Amino acid sequence: MNAAHDASRVVALVPAAGRGVRLGEAMPKAFVPIGGSPMLTLAVDGLIASGVVDRIVIIAPAELVRHAESALPAGFPADVVAGGAERIDSVRAGLAAAPEATHVLVHDAARALTPPSLIARVVAELRAGYPAVVPGVPVADTIKSVDSRQTVTGTPDRAGLRAIQTPQGFEAQLLREAYALDVPATDDAGLVERLGARVRVIPGDTMAFKITTPLDLRLANALLADRPVPDAVS
Ligand code: C5P
Repeated sequence: MNAAHDASRVVALVPAAGRGVRLGEAMPKAFVPIGGSPMLTLAVDGLIASGVVDRIVIIAPAELVRHAESALPAGFPADVVAGGAERIDSVRAGLAAAPEATHVLVHDAARALTPPSLIARVVAELRAGYPAVVPGVPVADTIKSVDSRQTVTGTPDRAGLRAIQTPQGFEAQLLREAYALDVPATDDAGLVERLGARVRVIPGDTMAFKITTPLDLRLANALLADRPVPDAVS
């Protein structure tokens, strides 16, 4: 959805300010290399390769803003802002830095191997008029809810569950209203749901998995060794 095509402006926010405690590396997670490149660089490269993003706003740990700026892609509009204590604070900072956006993608740096084709599909659904679009994949495990004593309180039907990935796409005004609510949520669509808006789920991609644990990191490195050239959307 480039400006050359219409008046819409798609801005991708890339939260990369997490500490990555579960990964157990010395540096913040988004800066950990896989296949020789930082996760953040791979995630940004994927957004650019999708061909549907007009500008990128990276949200980095405050002490690494300068470092992230030095690694910005040449020739593509991109900026870095400082993130906050929680992911929600980081996305809010990114949103404030994208006043021109008509549509916003929120894409975790930790989903570094997300195929550009998935990013393009999310934006295609936004262009088709859906105000909130998220990729999701069926869950392989049975999911149970538990109480504070670890006693099972329910077993939802697995067929009706989806594990939600990023990028999550929104009409910018809707996401701004959702962030104005100032309530806790673990993803951006969760905030939009609180407004009562409909969120559309499209098929996700297993390659968009979030790199969270050392096992995920090993998997990502192995996958990159098998796939040296990322796919591009023409
Ligand atoms: O911690 P988690 O894996 O859920 O983080 C998802 C994404 O959000 C990561 O890319 C991480 O860097 C980012 N994040 C952030 N600011 C925080 C916490 C997480 O930008 N305070």
